[in-house]
Amino acid sequence: MQSNHRPIGIFDSGVGGLSVLKEIQRLMPHENLIYIADSAFAPYGNKPLEFIQQRCLDLTQCLIDQGVKAIVVACNTATATAISTLRIQFTLPIIAMEPGVKPAITATKTGIVGVLATENTLSSDQFTHLLHRYAKNVKVICQPCPGLVEQIEAGELESETTRQLIKQFATPLLSAGADTIVLGCTHYPLIRKQIEQVIGPTISIIETGAAVAQQLHRILTDKQLLIHSSEVASKTCWSSGDQTRLYPLCSRILGQNIEVHPLFGCPNPQH
Ligand code: DGL
Repeated sequence: MQSNHRPIGIFDSGVGGLSVLKEIQRLMPHENLIYIADSAFAPYGNKPLEFIQQRCLDLTQCLIDQGVKAIVVACNTATATAISTLRIQFTLPIIAMEPGVKPAITATKTGIVGVLATENTLSSDQFTHLLHRYAKNVKVICQPCPGLVEQIEAGELESETTRQLIKQFATPLLSAGADTIVLGCTHYPLIRKQIEQVIGPTISIIETGAAVAQQLHRILTDKQLLIHSSEVASKTCWSSGDQTRLYPLCSRILGQNIEVHPLFGCPNPQH
């Protein structure tokens, strides 16, 4: 295949990375995309770091075997845990996520910022460095959100349990005076409306999917890998989880039907 017609590979522990895929699709509608939802092993947020690293290596290899021209790690937890290993191991462009601490610090007026993310992201060295680098005159309150990714993976985007969890995790940030909340996990933009209902209209929300899509666009442009085509792009979704269950959820998130295929050619630690 002509090198700029090759697809872009995107992966996440589950459906969360679709929030990033949507931004990529919006910015580069003619790019062919392969998405992997590693739903059989979600959440990554509380798994051992070695396990996540191995999954990231295996999923990246699997996408490379499909001939992708670039990879987007559409998962903050995977980035925080494995990005250095991936960049040492593989030479193709790898674009990654980072909680939007920097834009939040520019946006806050109270000088207090809240970050919602997974336990693994918040306890990572990468996140500690991010805070040291940018959060000098601002108070950053970090809130892990155990159980929230599981609700989203189960398609419970609007349930009462999900609303209660959002309330439980947002309350300490609001009580501390945060006026800006960072969604530091790619699953959370999928429940942005529900989060807004809980926190109210005066609090700003920062998510980084659009910035990652722009970064991908810059890198593909620099490397002359952008597709030049007016054809309808192909979009394929693979999952290590139950494809029949994921099909309606992925289609609902994307607002269009997308077939979900079994993930082939990737080692399965359950076997
Ligand atoms: N979507 C992910 C993230 O951005 C992973 C969440 C999880 O699997 O715990 O962190």
